[in-house]
Amino acid sequence: MDFPRPIIIGHRGACGHLPEHTLASYALGIALGADFIEPDLVVTKDGALIARHENEIGTTTDVADKFPDRKTRKVVDGRTVEGFFVEDLTLAEVRTLRARERLPFRDQSRNGLFPVPTFQEIIDLVRRKEWEIGRHIGLYPETKHPSYFRSIGLALEGRLVEILERNGYSGPDAPVFIQSFEMENLKDLHRLTGVPLIFLLEASDVRPYDFVLSGDPRTYGDLTTPAELAAIAAFAQGIGPWKRLIVPEASDKSLGAPTALIADAHAAGLLVHPYTFRNEELYLAPAYHNDPSAEYRQFFALGVDGVFSDFPDTAVTARTLFSQRR
Ligand code: G3P
Ligand code: CA
Repeated sequence: MDFPRPIIIGHRGACGHLPEHTLASYALGIALGADFIEPDLVVTKDGALIARHENEIGTTTDVADKFPDRKTRKVVDGRTVEGFFVEDLTLAEVRTLRARERLPFRDQSRNGLFPVPTFQEIIDLVRRKEWEIGRHIGLYPETKHPSYFRSIGLALEGRLVEILERNGYSGPDAPVFIQSFEMENLKDLHRLTGVPLIFLLEASDVRPYDFVLSGDPRTYGDLTTPAELAAIAAFAQGIGPWKRLIVPEASDKSLGAPTALIADAHAAGLLVHPYTFRNEELYLAPAYHNDPSAEYRQFFALGVDGVFSDFPDTAVTARTLFSQRR
């Protein structure tokens, strides 16, 4: 794959600027210079892959207005969730929905404008933009709630690989990273496709939900040792750690010394793509003095291979300045 390093991954598109997981957000992410765009994927009742961060879509769409009778309560990944679920709607029904901004402190003026895209529509957008602007744009899809979707007969993995292959994305050089917070479905994907895979890591004390189901006691923290990273390298090309696994933050928001995770992952042959970089002051540690570029600079200097960013424009500018000053 021929991309600048570290790669800038447009997180949910450019969701700092526009409602997440809409074609408008992905197109803006591309226009702002993202190398990859990141759709989170869930499955409709009739098996279509669409882009949403959760299977509960009441917080990011107008589904409550359009399908009030679908409100229900379910247990998803061990948590009771009340709301409106994508697996209870057909693709035709999802197509009638319009996206809403999730975060109250972000711009609400585009609520109701943008449909919920399918994964195929996102690929079509990427192909069109590649032709228009003359550079490669990568896809970085995440399988959301993979054990849950498998348990209700709507497994994500085969559907995802089938769409990727139908669109010519296969083999280790494809401009694709498939990511998952669960390990077993990544191992399945390793058997199904040759495209690069990324194992996501949450906070140290959390367990992957497939481990909870299987009774495996290991936490994400347990999976950051050199031996576990070497085991991950047998089926994945990289890790996507929560950024606090690289630069710890105390409860008073002071930053600790960087961990050995980047060096250990690189020693295992793994790429390191931490998440999520955001501009707003409430997400920035005081040490960055309300300057998001200071956070990017720190992680670039530590040697990350990419970053997930809600504001790809800020990330790209920070990368340019970082490379000029080296
Ligand atoms: O996939 C990387 C990052 O997006 C993980 O967090 O919750 O935004 O999907 P989330
Ligand atoms: Ca994601």
